[in-house]
Amino acid sequence: MSFDRELVSPDAEGDERVIEAALRPKRLGEFIGQARVREQLSLVLQSALLRARPPDHVLMSGPPGLGKTTLAMIIAAELGAPLRVTSGPALERAGDLAAILSTLSDGEVLFIDEIHRMARPAEEMLYLAMEDFRVDIVVGKGPGATAIPLDIAPFTLVGATTRAGLLPAPLRDRFGFTAHMDFYERDELEQVLRRSARLLSVDLPGEAAEEIAGRSRGTPRIANRLLRRVRDFSDVRAEGLITREIASAALNLYEVDAEGLDRLDRAVLTALLRRFGGGPVGLSTLAVAVGEEPETVEVVAEPFLVRQGLLARTPRGRVATAAAWTHFGLVPPPGAFGALDAFGAADEE
Ligand SMILES: Nc1ncnc2c1ncn2[C@@H]1O[C@H](COP(=O)(O)OP(=O)(O)OP(=O)(O)O)[C@@H](O)[C@H]1O
Ligand SMILES: [Mg+2]
Repeated sequence: MSFDRELVSPDAEGDERVIEAALRPKRLGEFIGQARVREQLSLVLQSALLRARPPDHVLMSGPPGLGKTTLAMIIAAELGAPLRVTSGPALERAGDLAAILSTLSDGEVLFIDEIHRMARPAEEMLYLAMEDFRVDIVVGKGPGATAIPLDIAPFTLVGATTRAGLLPAPLRDRFGFTAHMDFYERDELEQVLRRSARLLSVDLPGEAAEEIAGRSRGTPRIANRLLRRVRDFSDVRAEGLITREIASAALNLYEVDAEGLDRLDRAVLTALLRRFGGGPVGLSTLAVAVGEEPETVEVVAEPFLVRQGLLARTPRGRVATAAAWTHFGLVPPPGAFGALDAFGAADEE
């Protein structure tokens, strides 16, 4: 069993990248939500500009589609610095990274996406580069090998990861500032939608924006995608008119439910409830039950389910909460996680 994740996947694919580029805020002032991160980052950037020095290295962590790449581009724009983009999987050998580092210009911003997937030797080279703006180029092999130190231009590393827990501590420690990106509130997503609608010349009334925002899983990328599906639906079936009812009908058609749960979310929860009696069950067993990679379940589905209070990660495994039973119209068994006990108090973890 495999899911068509196109509509509700938080990952961008193919043509969508082009559309996303058009909708991407270009400056910090246009960036919606993440107020804390925005304020912290703006201080880091402004003080660097005052001192005329590259700012500390910045790490951004959080689930897909929340604006990590967007912020990396904004950092370069705010600094008026050029941006070099690469990703962890592209840095297989130390030489791949050396080739980039040795050609950076003064103050350049180097963005490494999926930095947790970088190969070990490249990672070690990066430590030295981040700390001393130096790389050791190893010439020769075996006992005769020598390391030739090479100075590189002062630069700012911006790393992005969906799995900060996988970063080795020495790498994490070398970032001066870590931005923890969190899911967006509904009113922030409404702002994202209004902005995108304006850029796409779509007439989107407030009520319809609210409806779409509520189903966007706290994720701007999904909000923008649902907006395009609603627009398609309205163009074909409603002569371009968008109302709350039309938005809702469109999204029902695409199987995104009123809480924003998509097919994978529902599959994970129903497997947990029906096959494992609500858990606890291990991540990999659960992933097999829904025919997905454990990483997909962990990175894509779980953060949102946990945030919605539908699923809990416990030391013994994944557990469905009382709210999950109720969401599917089932009666939570006695002792269900997070249920009100006889004294009316919710269980603590
Ligand atoms: N704060 C925001 N305000 C407005 N639009 C946003 C914001 N954050 C993200 N977006 C929109 O969401 C899309 C996805 O954002 P982005 O590509 O930066 O996410 P990401 O965190 O890098 O995702 P991934 O982990 O998949 O790389 C962007 O094209 C942009 O249009
Ligand atoms: Mg990205």
